[in-house]
Amino acid sequence: MARHLITSAIPYINGIKHLGNLVGSQLPADLFARYQRGRGHEVLFLCATDEHGTPAELAAAKAGKPVAEYCEEMHDVQAKIADGFNLSFDHFGRSSSAQNHKLTQHFAGRLADQGLIREVTETQMYSHEDGRFLPDRYIEGTCPNCGFEEARGDQCDNCGKLLDPTDLIDPYSTVSGSKDLEERETKHLYLRQSEMRGKLADWIDSKKDWPILTTSIAQKWLNDGDGLQDRGITRDLDWGIAVKKGENDWPGMEGKVFYVWFDAPIEYIACSQEWVDAGKGTDWERWWRTDKGADDVTYTQFMGKDNVPFHTLSFPATIFGADEDWKLVDYIKSFNYLNYDGGQFSTSRGRGVFMDQALEILPADYWRWWLLANAPESSDSEFTWEQFQSIVNKDLADVLGNFVSRVTKFCRSKFGEAVPEGGDYGPAELALTDDIAARVKAYEKHMDAMEVRKSAAELRAIWTAGNEYLQTVAPWSTFKEDPDTAAIQIRLALNLIRLYAVLSKPFIPDASAQMLAAMHTDDDSWPDDVSAALHMFQSGHEFTVPDITFRKITDAERDEWQEKFAGKRT
Ligand code: 2FM
Ligand code: ZN
Repeated sequence: MARHLITSAIPYINGIKHLGNLVGSQLPADLFARYQRGRGHEVLFLCATDEHGTPAELAAAKAGKPVAEYCEEMHDVQAKIADGFNLSFDHFGRSSSAQNHKLTQHFAGRLADQGLIREVTETQMYSHEDGRFLPDRYIEGTCPNCGFEEARGDQCDNCGKLLDPTDLIDPYSTVSGSKDLEERETKHLYLRQSEMRGKLADWIDSKKDWPILTTSIAQKWLNDGDGLQDRGITRDLDWGIAVKKGENDWPGMEGKVFYVWFDAPIEYIACSQEWVDAGKGTDWERWWRTDKGADDVTYTQFMGKDNVPFHTLSFPATIFGADEDWKLVDYIKSFNYLNYDGGQFSTSRGRGVFMDQALEILPADYWRWWLLANAPESSDSEFTWEQFQSIVNKDLADVLGNFVSRVTKFCRSKFGEAVPEGGDYGPAELALTDDIAARVKAYEKHMDAMEVRKSAAELRAIWTAGNEYLQTVAPWSTFKEDPDTAAIQIRLALNLIRLYAVLSKPFIPDASAQMLAAMHTDDDSWPDDVSAALHMFQSGHEFTVPDITFRKITDAERDEWQEKFAGKRT
């Protein structure tokens, strides 16, 4: 049994995420976690809310709530929606947890001990009207790189360039709109990432099997000199993790907090401590400390491409720098963007379908299937209502749902609700078994490699093979002349339903559970031997015709939703 540590990028606390966010990290991470569990491996799957930084403070201010209260509420909202999508986290933590405070301060202390932190006096934008410094998103202005007029102080949303508030042209405070700003001196801590450039470059170089999307972004940052400049890891904010050196105060850093991107990835580790402290696990170190058994853990991270620099360079710099036997990531699976109906999904502009809205109109499986089958892997992909309707109707309703319903209903009407008597499988059944066995191998290969679209395509092909078999042998015709042969065909088809439930569970867990329940079994063991799996139910095994597995999306619904989601979310 292998051990898989799996983390999804932790979503910002500021509001409900859209489907583009979901397919970029949490959903494919869940697919992989469910698959590895399905194969019988030990899995620790973690995610959390990213609660610090200006996004949290600004959203709380907008909601008119104290930040701590806002974060607590939004954490629960996000946790419930994650449940609604059947995201099977072993723990959904919070980067504001006591565990993360302590661990972040610990890392900072270690890095300081290793001489990897320097104190820098720098000029930052100070707003007279607001009586405060304006880091990151507290300030906006025109991007010096592309001219976009709403570039944020930390990054331009239009061209992606990382910025410093002082880079902005014509800057203004996002709190008050005031342009009465002044550059003032303040002291901050910088992580000497540049010192670790060689080590990071060698490490990235050694990752020949990583997705090109991941390594190309990392290489670009290593080589254009931009990403490996020393990075400021503190901010003049109220909300966040107080700057301390381990448990000790840090002279000159009073009233400052760590930068959100410093503490967020540390939450991956702290989350496992929260998992233990919540009584769900007993030993977090065997997942994270190579000196405590984590040597044989395979650690995989999932994220959107905008998060790649922080996970390939900044966080590894923290881990390398601390020099303490922490487990490093083994594989980084990154994603391009999902676009929405001719434009971008946008949280700030309320454009697209958000996770709560999606669940209000259709159950999770419909979304999970479409999103994963169209995951933006090799390039950006696009959500359109036409394509969503067509794929859901075809794959889920016509192929899988129809198979389950036809087989169980036909059996009930001719033989009753139990696997019928009959002889051994004949050539057509053996040929199908061989075909499916080969396809299951291909499916496993793609799932092991986290090739999400290819996995979905192979699963669809496995469903289709069953449908084609049914179409060819046509038990409803056979039955008239030769009921015994029809019984054999139906026995195979009923066994296929369980096989489909097991193979499909990582993609569509609710439908999978429904199919297993209909087949009166909770045996969801992986079909390592497909032939044996297709002999599992013998004559007399009872089942129940399930309620409809997947319904079709009508043209009227499609048009209604397209219209409804065309505007801005309010
Ligand atoms: O992009 C985001 O949504 C960030 N909150 C991701 C953080 S991932 C990690 F480092 F914790
Ligand atoms: Zn720009």
